[in-house]
Amino acid sequence: MTTMKIAILAGDGIGPEIVAQAVRVLDVLKTDGLGIALEHGLIGGCAVDATGEPYPEATHKLATHADAMLLGAVGGPKYDSLPRAQRPERGLLAIRKALNLFANLRPAILYPELADASSLKPEVVAGLDILIVRELTGDIYFGEPRGIEERNGQRVGFNTMIYNESEIQRIAHVAFQAAQKRNRKLCSIDKMNVLECTQLWRDVVEEVGKEYPDVTLSHMLVDNAAMQLVRDPKQFDVVVTGNMFGDILSDEASMLTGSIGMLPSASLDSNNKGLYEPIHGSAPDIAGKNIANPLATILSVAMMMRYTFNQESAAQRIENAVKKVLAQGFRTSDIASPGMRIIGTREMGDAVLSNM
Ligand code: IPM
Ligand code: MG
Repeated sequence: MTTMKIAILAGDGIGPEIVAQAVRVLDVLKTDGLGIALEHGLIGGCAVDATGEPYPEATHKLATHADAMLLGAVGGPKYDSLPRAQRPERGLLAIRKALNLFANLRPAILYPELADASSLKPEVVAGLDILIVRELTGDIYFGEPRGIEERNGQRVGFNTMIYNESEIQRIAHVAFQAAQKRNRKLCSIDKMNVLECTQLWRDVVEEVGKEYPDVTLSHMLVDNAAMQLVRDPKQFDVVVTGNMFGDILSDEASMLTGSIGMLPSASLDSNNKGLYEPIHGSAPDIAGKNIANPLATILSVAMMMRYTFNQESAAQRIENAVKKVLAQGFRTSDIASPGMRIIGTREMGDAVLSNM
């Protein structure tokens, strides 16, 4: 059996605490026979503290040789005043770009036990299960030219929204194939009424769609999509969009579930090597208090088993353990409704382990 090489990048804030619980889950899989080798590295603020850079060369080497990376979260108020190139978020952008992790999968699932956590009416969100496929290495996030400079006596800020057709094609293929494994509906989101870049996006997605006649393709403008997501989110199955629209819409979609602390994500390259992380941030205000919810990170391990390692049964074992824990009434404070039993980060890890 080949060994799964996994880089552990705990990061900042609550990152180390929640990743520690996910590592316990990996240890169980290892004890039960999967070949797993873990190596730890620095990213984000902790890497800036240690090396002066948010994505140091040593971390790049580690990640390059790993099959998958598990990341906690990066950032914190301590780093807010650093120059742009040293901000913890740059570490995240750098690893995505350096490893070509262009396909970001962000599921938004409402667990029935957590229906009360949503700010929307239960009937609007009950059974919600959306997959957002966000392009992650292009668009205005990386486009050149960019900058702030002086022109005619005043400062001007500018960025470039840009996609070439091969970037659009490859993310479209990922999205169509994901839709084939689900309810075979794909909605592509753009702003073609204003932006040429996204006119090309729509044209190319349409072309790629000819290869997937079994998937129903629709298109929606991003402003309408933002509205439809709160009006009638269950109309969506798989959504595909560019980097910036995907950033915004995936936060919106996650909040439909009311439990941002529950949602994992995967960022994959074309060989399914991947970076797995919870979609929430580093929550510095609650760091070190043993109250953060580790379930999104634990569920990220499940996604890792599924997408990078093709270990569907290990993935389901983790997901089923999480479902049981919820059914048993265990809650961290972020997902607790009144009267529920609130437990800490480590105790939530214990509960998952005992259900595996
Ligand atoms: C995300 C985050 C990042 C992004 C930030 C931290 C750079 O918001 O993963 O959605 O904008 O992509
Ligand atoms: Mg974001």
